[in-house]
Amino acid sequence: GTTPAVDVALFGALGDLALRKLYVALYHLDREGLMHEDTRILGLARQEYDIDAFRARVRDALENRVPNEERTQEVLTRFLDRLAYIQLEFDAPEGYRQISQWHGRNPNPLTVYLSVPARLYGDICSNLSKANCLDSESRVVVEKPLGYDLESSQEINDAIGAVFDESRIYRIDHYLGKETVQNLLALRFANPLFGNQWNQNHVSHVEITVAETVGIEGRWGYFDQAGQLRDMVQNHLMQLLCMIAMDPPSNLDADSIRDEKVKVLKALRPIEGERLNTDVVRGQYVAGTSGGKQVPGYLEEEGANTDSRTETFVAFKTEVSNWRWAGVPFYLRTGKRMPEKLSQIVIHFRQQSHYIFDPDQRGMASNKLIIRLQPDEGIALQVLTKDSGLDKGMRLRTGPLHLDFHQAFPSTRIPDAYERLLLEVMKGQQYLFVRRDEIEYAWRWVDTLIAGWEARDMPPKRYPAGSWGPVSSIAMITQDGRSWYEDY
Ligand code: BG6
Repeated sequence: GTTPAVDVALFGALGDLALRKLYVALYHLDREGLMHEDTRILGLARQEYDIDAFRARVRDALENRVPNEERTQEVLTRFLDRLAYIQLEFDAPEGYRQISQWHGRNPNPLTVYLSVPARLYGDICSNLSKANCLDSESRVVVEKPLGYDLESSQEINDAIGAVFDESRIYRIDHYLGKETVQNLLALRFANPLFGNQWNQNHVSHVEITVAETVGIEGRWGYFDQAGQLRDMVQNHLMQLLCMIAMDPPSNLDADSIRDEKVKVLKALRPIEGERLNTDVVRGQYVAGTSGGKQVPGYLEEEGANTDSRTETFVAFKTEVSNWRWAGVPFYLRTGKRMPEKLSQIVIHFRQQSHYIFDPDQRGMASNKLIIRLQPDEGIALQVLTKDSGLDKGMRLRTGPLHLDFHQAFPSTRIPDAYERLLLEVMKGQQYLFVRRDEIEYAWRWVDTLIAGWEARDMPPKRYPAGSWGPVSSIAMITQDGRSWYEDY
Protein backbone atom coordinates (compact mmCIF):
# COMPACT_ATOMS: atom_id res chain seq x y z
CA GLY A 1 0.00 0.00 0.00
CA THR A 2 0.98 3.64 0.24
CA THR A 3 1.66 3.50 3.98
CA PRO A 4 5.41 3.92 4.47
CA ALA A 5 7.35 0.99 5.95
CA VAL A 6 8.53 1.25 9.57
CA ASP A 7 10.47 -0.84 12.06
CA VAL A 8 8.32 -0.97 15.19
CA ALA A 9 10.10 -1.66 18.50
CA LEU A 10 7.39 -2.47 21.00
CA PHE A 11 8.39 -2.21 24.66
CA GLY A 12 5.99 -4.12 26.89
CA ALA A 13 5.27 -6.63 24.13
CA LEU A 14 3.66 -9.11 26.52
CA GLY A 15 1.74 -6.53 28.51
CA ASP A 16 -1.97 -6.05 28.81
CA LEU A 17 -2.34 -3.23 26.27
CA ALA A 18 -0.25 -5.01 23.66
CA LEU A 19 -2.16 -8.26 23.99
CA ARG A 20 -5.58 -6.65 24.24
CA LYS A 21 -5.29 -3.90 21.65
CA LEU A 22 -2.06 -3.39 19.76
CA TYR A 23 -1.60 -6.68 17.88
CA VAL A 24 -5.25 -6.70 16.99
CA ALA A 25 -5.01 -3.18 15.60
CA LEU A 26 -1.82 -3.99 13.68
CA TYR A 27 -3.40 -7.16 12.33
CA HIS A 28 -6.36 -5.18 11.00
CA LEU A 29 -4.06 -2.71 9.27
CA ASP A 30 -2.26 -5.60 7.64
CA ARG A 31 -5.50 -7.21 6.59
CA GLU A 32 -6.79 -4.00 5.04
CA GLY A 33 -3.63 -3.58 3.02
CA LEU A 34 -2.58 -0.56 5.07
CA MET A 35 0.70 -1.99 6.29
CA HIS A 36 3.72 -1.87 4.02
CA GLU A 37 5.10 -5.28 3.16
CA ASP A 38 8.48 -4.32 4.65
CA THR A 39 7.11 -3.25 8.02
CA ARG A 40 8.54 -5.31 10.87
CA ILE A 41 7.60 -5.55 14.52
CA LEU A 42 10.07 -6.27 17.29
CA GLY A 43 8.62 -7.36 20.64
CA LEU A 44 10.62 -6.38 23.71
CA ALA A 45 9.92 -7.66 27.20
CA ARG A 46 11.61 -9.15 30.26
CA GLN A 47 10.25 -12.65 29.77
CA GLU A 48 12.51 -15.33 28.34
CA TYR A 49 10.58 -16.16 25.22
CA ASP A 50 11.92 -17.45 21.96
CA ILE A 51 10.43 -16.31 18.70
CA ASP A 52 8.14 -19.33 18.40
CA ALA A 53 6.70 -18.83 21.86
CA PHE A 54 6.22 -15.14 21.14
CA ARG A 55 4.44 -15.80 17.86
CA ALA A 56 2.24 -18.38 19.55
CA ARG A 57 1.30 -15.86 22.22
CA VAL A 58 0.41 -13.21 19.66
CA ARG A 59 -1.51 -15.74 17.58
CA ASP A 60 -3.48 -16.60 20.69
CA ALA A 61 -4.29 -12.97 21.36
CA LEU A 62 -5.51 -12.57 17.79
CA GLU A 63 -7.58 -15.72 17.86
CA ASN A 64 -9.30 -14.51 21.01
CA ARG A 65 -10.01 -11.03 19.79
CA VAL A 66 -10.38 -10.94 16.04
CA PRO A 67 -13.76 -12.27 14.88
CA ASN A 68 -13.60 -15.44 12.78
CA GLU A 69 -14.77 -13.84 9.58
CA GLU A 70 -11.95 -11.29 9.80
CA ARG A 71 -9.24 -13.89 10.33
CA THR A 72 -7.60 -15.70 7.44
CA GLN A 73 -4.63 -18.04 7.50
CA GLU A 74 -2.96 -15.98 4.83
CA VAL A 75 -3.02 -12.70 6.72
CA LEU A 76 -2.24 -14.40 10.00
CA THR A 77 0.89 -16.02 8.58
CA ARG A 78 1.99 -12.83 6.87
CA PHE A 79 1.48 -10.88 10.09
CA LEU A 80 3.26 -13.35 12.36
CA ASP A 81 6.20 -13.43 9.94
CA ARG A 82 6.80 -9.75 10.60
CA LEU A 83 7.46 -10.44 14.28
CA ALA A 84 10.77 -10.74 16.08
CA TYR A 85 11.43 -10.92 19.82
CA ILE A 86 14.25 -9.81 22.08
CA GLN A 87 14.36 -10.41 25.80
CA LEU A 88 15.49 -7.21 27.48
CA GLU A 89 15.95 -5.71 30.93
CA PHE A 90 14.79 -2.19 30.21
CA ASP A 91 17.18 -0.60 32.70
CA ALA A 92 20.28 -2.43 31.45
CA PRO A 93 21.97 -0.42 28.65
CA GLU A 94 23.99 -3.37 27.26
CA GLY A 95 20.96 -5.18 25.90
CA TYR A 96 19.98 -2.28 23.66
CA ARG A 97 22.71 -3.11 21.16
CA GLN A 98 20.52 -6.01 20.06
CA ILE A 99 17.91 -3.48 18.97
CA SER A 100 20.37 -1.57 16.82
CA GLN A 101 21.52 -4.88 15.32
CA TRP A 102 17.95 -5.86 14.52
CA HIS A 103 17.23 -2.46 12.96
CA GLY A 104 20.60 -2.54 11.19
CA ARG A 105 20.93 -0.26 8.17
CA ASN A 106 17.24 -0.48 7.46
CA PRO A 107 16.18 2.93 6.12
CA ASN A 108 12.65 2.54 7.50
CA PRO A 109 12.25 4.70 10.59
CA LEU A 110 12.56 3.04 13.96
CA THR A 111 9.23 3.55 15.69
CA VAL A 112 9.55 2.99 19.41
CA TYR A 113 6.27 2.19 21.16
CA LEU A 114 6.45 2.53 24.95
CA SER A 115 3.68 0.38 26.34
CA VAL A 116 5.27 0.39 29.80
CA PRO A 117 4.90 2.56 32.92
CA ALA A 118 5.94 6.17 32.37
CA ARG A 119 8.65 6.03 35.02
CA LEU A 120 10.65 3.87 32.61
CA TYR A 121 10.37 6.26 29.64
CA GLY A 122 13.45 8.28 30.55
CA ASP A 123 15.75 5.28 30.94
CA ILE A 124 14.53 3.60 27.82
CA CYS A 125 14.95 6.71 25.70
CA SER A 126 18.44 7.40 26.93
CA ASN A 127 19.50 3.76 26.55
CA LEU A 128 18.21 3.72 22.99
CA SER A 129 20.18 6.82 22.25
CA LYS A 130 23.40 5.53 23.85
CA ALA A 131 23.18 2.28 21.93
CA ASN A 132 22.94 4.28 18.67
CA CYS A 133 19.52 2.92 17.82
CA LEU A 134 18.15 6.32 16.82
CA ASP A 135 18.52 8.80 14.03
CA SER A 136 16.66 11.94 13.06
CA GLU A 137 13.83 9.89 11.54
CA SER A 138 13.11 7.77 14.64
CA ARG A 139 9.82 8.23 16.45
CA VAL A 140 8.44 7.44 19.86
CA VAL A 141 4.86 6.64 20.83
CA VAL A 142 3.88 7.03 24.47
CA GLU A 143 0.81 6.06 26.46
CA LYS A 144 -0.95 7.76 29.34
CA PRO A 145 -0.82 8.37 32.22
CA LEU A 146 1.81 10.98 31.47
CA GLY A 147 2.40 11.89 35.07
CA TYR A 148 0.29 12.57 38.06
CA ASP A 149 0.32 16.35 38.03
CA LEU A 150 1.96 19.17 36.09
CA GLU A 151 5.35 18.70 37.71
CA SER A 152 5.64 14.96 37.18
CA SER A 153 4.38 15.28 33.62
CA GLN A 154 7.06 17.89 32.94
CA GLU A 155 9.72 15.51 34.22
CA ILE A 156 8.49 12.77 31.92
CA ASN A 157 8.26 15.13 28.96
CA ASP A 158 11.76 16.46 29.67
CA ALA A 159 13.16 12.93 29.74
CA ILE A 160 11.59 12.02 26.41
CA GLY A 161 12.40 15.43 24.98
CA ALA A 162 16.09 15.00 25.83
CA VAL A 163 16.23 12.32 23.12
CA PHE A 164 13.33 12.96 20.73
CA ASP A 165 12.33 16.22 19.10
CA GLU A 166 8.69 17.22 19.72
CA SER A 167 7.94 16.54 16.05
CA ARG A 168 8.89 12.88 16.65
CA ILE A 169 6.83 12.34 19.81
CA TYR A 170 3.38 10.76 19.49
CA ARG A 171 1.45 11.07 22.75
CA ILE A 172 -1.61 8.87 22.63
CA ASP A 173 -5.01 9.87 23.85
CA HIS A 174 -7.04 7.03 22.45
CA TYR A 175 -10.20 9.18 22.34
CA LEU A 176 -8.61 11.10 19.46
CA GLY A 177 -8.41 7.83 17.55
CA LYS A 178 -12.14 7.24 17.78
CA GLU A 179 -13.80 7.74 14.42
CA THR A 180 -16.65 9.70 15.96
CA VAL A 181 -14.30 12.10 17.70
CA GLN A 182 -12.61 12.92 14.39
CA ASN A 183 -16.05 13.36 12.98
CA LEU A 184 -16.45 16.41 15.20
CA LEU A 185 -14.04 18.20 12.88
CA ALA A 186 -16.11 17.28 9.83
CA LEU A 187 -19.38 18.10 11.53
CA ARG A 188 -18.26 21.52 12.67
CA PHE A 189 -16.06 22.69 9.86
CA ALA A 190 -17.69 21.14 6.79
CA ASN A 191 -21.28 22.10 7.66
CA PRO A 192 -21.91 25.85 7.65
CA LEU A 193 -25.35 25.10 9.10
CA PHE A 194 -23.68 24.16 12.37
CA GLY A 195 -20.43 26.06 12.00
CA ASN A 196 -22.23 29.39 11.79
CA GLN A 197 -24.24 28.79 14.93
CA TRP A 198 -21.38 27.53 17.00
CA ASN A 199 -20.97 30.36 19.49
CA GLN A 200 -22.49 32.19 22.43
CA ASN A 201 -25.05 33.97 20.25
CA HIS A 202 -26.73 30.70 19.40
CA VAL A 203 -25.65 28.08 21.92
CA SER A 204 -27.07 28.23 25.42
CA HIS A 205 -25.01 25.45 26.97
CA VAL A 206 -23.05 22.30 26.22
CA GLU A 207 -23.08 18.90 27.95
CA ILE A 208 -20.47 16.19 27.76
CA THR A 209 -21.13 12.81 29.37
CA VAL A 210 -18.66 9.93 29.39
CA ALA A 211 -20.29 7.18 31.42
CA GLU A 212 -18.86 3.71 31.96
CA THR A 213 -20.50 0.64 33.43
CA VAL A 214 -17.23 -0.96 34.50
CA GLY A 215 -15.79 -0.49 37.96
CA ILE A 216 -12.05 -0.39 38.31
CA GLU A 217 -11.46 -3.91 37.00
CA GLY A 218 -8.67 -5.06 39.27
CA ARG A 219 -6.66 -1.87 38.76
CA TRP A 220 -7.04 -0.57 42.30
CA GLY A 221 -3.34 0.12 42.74
CA TYR A 222 -3.23 2.45 39.74
CA PHE A 223 -6.69 3.86 39.95
CA ASP A 224 -6.65 4.80 43.60
CA GLN A 225 -3.60 7.01 43.02
CA ALA A 226 -5.25 8.65 40.06
CA GLY A 227 -9.04 8.92 40.43
CA GLN A 228 -11.53 9.77 37.72
CA LEU A 229 -10.36 13.36 37.34
CA ARG A 230 -6.81 12.37 36.42
CA ASP A 231 -7.75 9.13 34.67
CA MET A 232 -10.49 10.51 32.41
CA VAL A 233 -10.90 14.29 32.64
CA GLN A 234 -7.29 15.44 32.30
CA ASN A 235 -7.03 13.64 28.98
CA HIS A 236 -10.17 12.32 27.30
CA LEU A 237 -12.79 14.84 28.44
CA MET A 238 -10.43 17.77 27.93
CA GLN A 239 -9.77 16.58 24.40
CA LEU A 240 -13.49 16.29 23.67
CA LEU A 241 -14.03 19.75 25.09
CA CYS A 242 -11.28 21.11 22.85
CA MET A 243 -12.74 19.49 19.76
CA ILE A 244 -16.11 21.08 20.53
CA ALA A 245 -14.88 24.50 21.58
CA MET A 246 -11.85 25.21 19.40
CA ASP A 247 -11.85 27.83 16.68
CA PRO A 248 -11.54 26.61 13.09
CA PRO A 249 -7.91 25.81 12.35
CA SER A 250 -6.56 27.40 9.18
CA ASN A 251 -5.89 23.91 7.78
CA LEU A 252 -5.67 20.32 8.96
CA ASP A 253 -1.96 20.41 9.84
CA ALA A 254 -1.09 19.00 13.22
CA ASP A 255 0.10 22.28 14.66
CA SER A 256 -2.76 24.34 13.25
CA ILE A 257 -5.19 22.05 15.04
CA ARG A 258 -3.19 21.80 18.22
CA ASP A 259 -2.64 25.56 18.43
CA GLU A 260 -6.41 26.01 18.50
CA LYS A 261 -6.86 23.33 21.14
CA VAL A 262 -4.25 24.95 23.35
CA LYS A 263 -6.13 28.26 23.17
CA VAL A 264 -9.21 26.53 24.55
CA LEU A 265 -7.29 24.99 27.42
CA LYS A 266 -5.75 28.35 28.27
CA ALA A 267 -9.19 29.96 28.33
CA LEU A 268 -10.77 27.31 30.51
CA ARG A 269 -12.07 28.87 33.72
CA PRO A 270 -10.54 27.19 36.77
CA ILE A 271 -12.70 25.82 39.56
CA GLU A 272 -11.49 27.42 42.76
CA GLY A 273 -12.77 29.39 45.75
CA GLU A 274 -16.55 29.43 46.13
CA ARG A 275 -16.92 27.47 42.90
CA LEU A 276 -15.62 24.38 44.68
CA ASN A 277 -18.97 24.28 46.47
CA THR A 278 -21.24 25.01 43.53
CA ASP A 279 -19.55 23.98 40.30
CA VAL A 280 -18.13 20.53 40.97
CA VAL A 281 -19.27 17.25 42.49
CA ARG A 282 -17.03 14.32 43.17
CA GLY A 283 -18.45 10.91 43.90
CA GLN A 284 -17.46 7.41 44.89
CA TYR A 285 -19.65 4.38 44.23
CA VAL A 286 -20.99 2.12 46.93
CA ALA A 287 -22.44 -1.34 46.37
CA GLY A 288 -25.36 -1.50 43.98
CA THR A 289 -26.71 -3.20 40.90
CA SER A 290 -24.94 -3.00 37.59
CA GLY A 291 -25.96 -4.89 34.47
CA GLY A 292 -28.53 -6.83 36.48
CA LYS A 293 -26.11 -8.10 39.09
CA GLN A 294 -24.99 -7.02 42.55
CA VAL A 295 -21.57 -5.37 42.50
CA PRO A 296 -19.36 -4.30 45.40
CA GLY A 297 -18.64 -0.70 46.32
CA TYR A 298 -15.32 0.95 45.51
CA LEU A 299 -14.05 0.45 49.04
CA GLU A 300 -14.87 -3.26 48.87
CA GLU A 301 -13.04 -3.91 45.60
CA GLU A 302 -10.16 -6.34 45.69
CA GLY A 303 -7.07 -4.79 47.29
CA ALA A 304 -8.96 -1.71 48.46
CA ASN A 305 -7.81 0.62 51.19
CA THR A 306 -11.06 1.19 53.01
CA ASP A 307 -10.28 4.84 53.89
CA SER A 308 -9.78 5.92 50.32
CA ARG A 309 -11.28 9.23 49.24
CA THR A 310 -10.47 8.76 45.59
CA GLU A 311 -13.30 9.80 43.28
CA THR A 312 -14.82 7.42 40.74
CA PHE A 313 -17.18 10.10 39.44
CA VAL A 314 -16.84 13.78 38.76
CA ALA A 315 -19.27 16.35 37.37
CA PHE A 316 -18.43 19.99 36.89
CA LYS A 317 -19.42 23.20 35.23
CA THR A 318 -16.91 25.41 33.52
CA GLU A 319 -16.66 28.08 30.85
CA VAL A 320 -14.33 28.78 27.98
CA SER A 321 -13.64 32.43 28.61
CA ASN A 322 -13.15 33.80 25.13
CA TRP A 323 -15.04 35.70 22.45
CA ARG A 324 -16.82 32.64 21.11
CA TRP A 325 -18.00 31.11 24.37
CA ALA A 326 -18.17 33.68 27.17
CA GLY A 327 -21.32 33.06 29.21
CA VAL A 328 -21.97 29.55 27.86
CA PRO A 329 -21.73 26.92 30.59
CA PHE A 330 -20.08 23.61 29.75
CA TYR A 331 -21.37 20.81 31.96
CA LEU A 332 -19.19 17.68 32.02
CA ARG A 333 -19.55 14.42 33.88
CA THR A 334 -17.82 11.07 33.87
CA GLY A 335 -18.02 8.09 36.16
CA LYS A 336 -17.49 4.40 36.70
CA ARG A 337 -20.43 2.08 37.46
CA MET A 338 -23.00 4.21 35.70
CA PRO A 339 -26.20 2.59 34.37
CA GLU A 340 -24.82 2.34 30.83
CA LYS A 341 -21.75 2.88 28.71
CA LEU A 342 -22.38 6.14 26.94
CA SER A 343 -20.23 8.92 25.54
CA GLN A 344 -22.34 11.76 24.31
CA ILE A 345 -22.11 15.47 23.63
CA VAL A 346 -25.23 17.63 23.57
CA ILE A 347 -25.22 21.15 22.16
CA HIS A 348 -28.26 23.07 23.37
CA PHE A 349 -29.22 25.95 21.13
CA ARG A 350 -30.87 29.10 22.36
CA GLN A 351 -34.57 29.66 22.03
CA GLN A 352 -36.18 31.73 19.36
CA SER A 353 -36.47 35.25 20.75
CA HIS A 354 -39.84 36.07 19.17
CA TYR A 355 -42.06 33.20 20.18
CA ILE A 356 -45.60 32.75 18.81
CA PHE A 357 -46.69 29.35 20.07
CA ASP A 358 -48.37 28.11 23.22
CA PRO A 359 -46.61 29.81 26.15
CA ASP A 360 -46.87 26.55 28.11
CA GLN A 361 -44.60 24.93 25.58
CA ARG A 362 -41.95 27.56 25.66
CA GLY A 363 -39.64 25.41 27.78
CA MET A 364 -39.30 22.71 25.16
CA ALA A 365 -38.78 25.08 22.28
CA SER A 366 -35.11 24.78 21.51
CA ASN A 367 -32.97 22.71 19.19
CA LYS A 368 -30.46 20.24 20.48
CA LEU A 369 -27.69 18.56 18.59
CA ILE A 370 -26.84 15.19 20.10
CA ILE A 371 -23.56 13.64 19.13
CA ARG A 372 -23.30 10.03 20.17
CA LEU A 373 -19.66 8.91 20.29
CA GLN A 374 -20.25 5.42 21.63
CA PRO A 375 -22.03 3.07 21.43
CA ASP A 376 -24.47 3.40 18.46
CA GLU A 377 -22.40 6.11 16.83
CA GLY A 378 -24.55 8.79 15.32
CA ILE A 379 -25.80 12.34 15.26
CA ALA A 380 -29.33 13.50 16.01
CA LEU A 381 -30.83 16.95 15.77
CA GLN A 382 -33.89 17.57 17.88
CA VAL A 383 -36.25 19.71 15.85
CA LEU A 384 -39.66 21.12 16.66
CA THR A 385 -42.60 20.22 14.49
CA LYS A 386 -46.33 20.57 14.71
CA ASP A 387 -48.04 17.81 16.59
CA SER A 388 -50.29 16.04 14.09
CA GLY A 389 -54.00 15.52 14.64
CA LEU A 390 -57.04 17.73 14.19
CA ASP A 391 -57.45 18.29 17.90
CA LYS A 392 -53.89 19.48 18.49
CA GLY A 393 -54.14 22.99 17.10
CA MET A 394 -50.64 24.42 16.85
CA ARG A 395 -49.14 22.26 19.58
CA LEU A 396 -45.48 21.55 19.09
CA ARG A 397 -43.54 18.38 19.55
CA THR A 398 -39.90 17.47 19.18
CA GLY A 399 -38.54 14.72 17.00
CA PRO A 400 -35.10 13.71 15.87
CA LEU A 401 -33.44 14.08 12.50
CA HIS A 402 -31.18 11.14 12.93
CA LEU A 403 -28.00 9.94 11.27
CA ASP A 404 -27.06 6.50 12.56
CA PHE A 405 -23.63 5.60 11.18
CA HIS A 406 -24.22 1.84 11.17
CA GLN A 407 -27.52 2.15 9.33
CA ALA A 408 -26.46 4.87 6.94
CA PHE A 409 -23.15 3.25 6.01
CA PRO A 410 -23.73 -0.44 6.76
CA SER A 411 -20.75 -1.77 4.85
CA THR A 412 -18.12 0.31 6.60
CA ARG A 413 -16.57 -1.12 9.68
CA ILE A 414 -15.82 1.47 12.37
CA PRO A 415 -12.16 0.87 13.17
CA ASP A 416 -10.82 0.72 16.69
CA ALA A 417 -9.03 3.85 17.90
CA TYR A 418 -5.65 2.10 17.92
CA GLU A 419 -5.89 1.17 14.25
CA ARG A 420 -6.26 4.80 13.27
CA LEU A 421 -3.55 5.96 15.64
CA LEU A 422 -1.00 3.34 14.58
CA LEU A 423 -1.69 4.13 10.94
CA GLU A 424 -1.04 7.84 11.55
CA VAL A 425 2.22 7.04 13.32
CA MET A 426 3.35 5.00 10.32
CA LYS A 427 2.46 7.88 8.04
CA GLY A 428 4.31 10.29 10.30
CA GLN A 429 1.24 12.44 10.90
CA GLN A 430 0.77 14.00 14.30
CA TYR A 431 -2.61 15.69 14.21
CA LEU A 432 -4.28 13.00 16.33
CA PHE A 433 -1.59 13.12 19.00
CA VAL A 434 -1.31 15.42 21.96
CA ARG A 435 1.35 18.10 22.04
CA ARG A 436 3.32 18.81 25.19
CA ASP A 437 1.70 22.17 25.91
CA GLU A 438 -1.80 20.67 25.64
CA ILE A 439 -0.99 18.13 28.32
CA GLU A 440 0.55 20.77 30.53
CA TYR A 441 -2.33 23.23 30.34
CA ALA A 442 -4.74 20.41 31.07
CA TRP A 443 -2.70 19.42 34.12
CA ARG A 444 -2.65 23.00 35.33
CA TRP A 445 -6.44 23.12 35.33
CA VAL A 446 -6.73 19.72 37.04
CA ASP A 447 -4.08 20.56 39.63
CA THR A 448 -5.96 23.72 40.65
CA LEU A 449 -9.11 21.72 41.26
CA ILE A 450 -7.33 19.00 43.22
CA ALA A 451 -5.50 21.57 45.35
CA GLY A 452 -8.89 23.08 46.19
CA TRP A 453 -10.34 19.73 47.21
CA GLU A 454 -7.32 19.03 49.37
CA ALA A 455 -7.24 22.43 51.03
CA ARG A 456 -10.92 22.18 51.93
CA ASP A 457 -10.67 18.53 52.79
CA MET A 458 -13.65 17.68 50.58
CA PRO A 459 -14.51 13.96 50.56
CA PRO A 460 -16.41 12.38 47.67
CA LYS A 461 -20.18 11.89 47.89
CA ARG A 462 -21.53 8.38 47.69
CA TYR A 463 -23.64 7.04 44.88
CA PRO A 464 -24.93 3.51 44.39
CA ALA A 465 -23.31 1.51 41.59
CA GLY A 466 -25.69 1.55 38.64
CA SER A 467 -26.92 5.11 39.21
CA TRP A 468 -26.10 8.37 37.44
CA GLY A 469 -23.91 9.63 40.27
CA PRO A 470 -24.52 11.59 43.47
CA VAL A 471 -27.80 13.50 43.57
CA SER A 472 -25.87 16.73 43.93
CA SER A 473 -24.59 16.26 40.38
CA ILE A 474 -28.20 16.56 39.24
CA ALA A 475 -28.74 19.55 41.53
CA MET A 476 -25.64 21.23 40.07
CA ILE A 477 -27.36 21.58 36.71
CA THR A 478 -30.99 21.98 37.90
CA GLN A 479 -29.97 24.99 39.97
CA ASP A 480 -29.34 26.64 36.59
CA GLY A 481 -32.83 25.66 35.40
CA ARG A 482 -31.52 22.85 33.19
CA SER A 483 -31.16 19.10 33.29
CA TRP A 484 -28.83 16.45 31.93
CA TYR A 485 -30.18 15.34 28.59
CA GLU A 486 -31.82 11.94 28.76
CA ASP A 487 -32.91 9.75 25.94
CA TYR A 488 -31.92 6.53 27.52
C1 BG6 B 1 -8.79 4.71 29.84
C2 BG6 B 1 -8.97 4.78 31.33
O1 BG6 B 1 -7.91 5.71 29.42
O2 BG6 B 1 -10.04 4.89 29.19
C3 BG6 B 1 -9.97 3.74 31.79
O3 BG6 B 1 -7.72 4.56 31.99
C4 BG6 B 1 -11.26 3.87 31.02
O4 BG6 B 1 -10.21 3.88 33.20
C5 BG6 B 1 -11.00 3.91 29.51
O5 BG6 B 1 -12.10 2.80 31.36
C6 BG6 B 1 -12.27 4.21 28.73
O6 BG6 B 1 -12.05 4.07 27.35
P1 BG6 B 1 -13.22 3.68 26.35
O7 BG6 B 1 -12.56 3.66 25.00
O8 BG6 B 1 -13.73 2.35 26.78
O9 BG6 B 1 -14.27 4.75 26.47
